[in-house]
Amino acid sequence: MTILVTGATGAVGRHLVTTLLARGADVRALTRKPADADLPDAVEVVAGDLADAGTLGAEVFDGIDRAFVFPAQGVEAFVGAATGHGVRRLSLLSSLAAAKEFPRDHGSASQLHHSAVEDVVTVSTDAWTILRPGTFANNLLSWSWQIRSGAPIRAPYLASAQAPVHEYDIAEAAAETLLTDEHLGDAIPLTGPQALTRSEQVATIAEALGRDVPLVEITPEEFRAEAGRFIPEPVMKMLLDYWHDTLTVPDVPRPVTAVTGRPGRTLAEWAADHRADFEGA
Ligand SMILES: NC(=O)c1ccc[n+]([C@@H]2O[C@H](COP(=O)([O-])OP(=O)(O)OC[C@H]3O[C@@H](n4cnc5c(N)ncnc54)[C@H](OP(=O)(O)O)[C@@H]3O)[C@@H](O)[C@H]2O)c1
Repeated sequence: MTILVTGATGAVGRHLVTTLLARGADVRALTRKPADADLPDAVEVVAGDLADAGTLGAEVFDGIDRAFVFPAQGVEAFVGAATGHGVRRLSLLSSLAAAKEFPRDHGSASQLHHSAVEDVVTVSTDAWTILRPGTFANNLLSWSWQIRSGAPIRAPYLASAQAPVHEYDIAEAAAETLLTDEHLGDAIPLTGPQALTRSEQVATIAEALGRDVPLVEITPEEFRAEAGRFIPEPVMKMLLDYWHDTLTVPDVPRPVTAVTGRPGRTLAEWAADHRADFEGA
């Protein structure tokens, strides 16, 4: 069985590729830049742009009946090309925002994008699975430059509690949906196994590094003023709404166990796996 993996050079995709290989599948990986892909030798790497049907010819889909779909802007082009070439089974990386569980999700940047992609996938095939992760632990890498330089992290809503999910758990859930028929027609929420306050998240990274990480609480207004030039306003609004709400209603953990049977990776495990991202000047 050859499985087509899009987003294969990304955080989720790389671990999905190695998981599928370890489980005996053949893998074809799609990337815009094959020369930079740096994937295992066993992977067949093909060039293509998810948003450009002109780059998605028969060589991408020959011999493929299932694919992991990365939700890039314009991915509708890929879904159309894939189903047009007979790829029936699609596992889509979406977002928990698309479940619209909270008022804050309705109309958020993430909900609008991921719901639209979900709609395209579910009308294009009857053999789909949707993975809906909540906040990625990798979002905490946005603190890496402060931590590397020793500058204090300045963040709002330090008492709010989220359950960040390790990218390996998302990848292993995706592998399960591609290798078994157990989750056809399911939209699967995925989070880390524990809700931790933002202060506890910083402390967890500090523990993995074996040193203090200074942290200063600032107001949401200060955060908007300081970070607004790096974060587009629709994303800023989504983040502030999420942290605000999770002050009083912490994330309810929905770990990967329901899909893989294994415990979800803790934030401490994530921090240990990413120590190098926070080390060095
Ligand atoms: N951050 C969160 O909290 C969160 C929560 C829920 C869902 N999500 C979803 O998860 C995604 C991030 O996943 P990740 O961390 O694995 O991604 P990532 O590390 O940022 O990697 C992005 C991947 O997408 C591929 N890609 C992007 N545009 C493409 C295009 N037009 N054609 C072909 N390939 C394209 C890239 O491939 P090449 O560059 O090699 O072509 C790369 O492999 C987000 O974009 C969002 O949709 C995120």
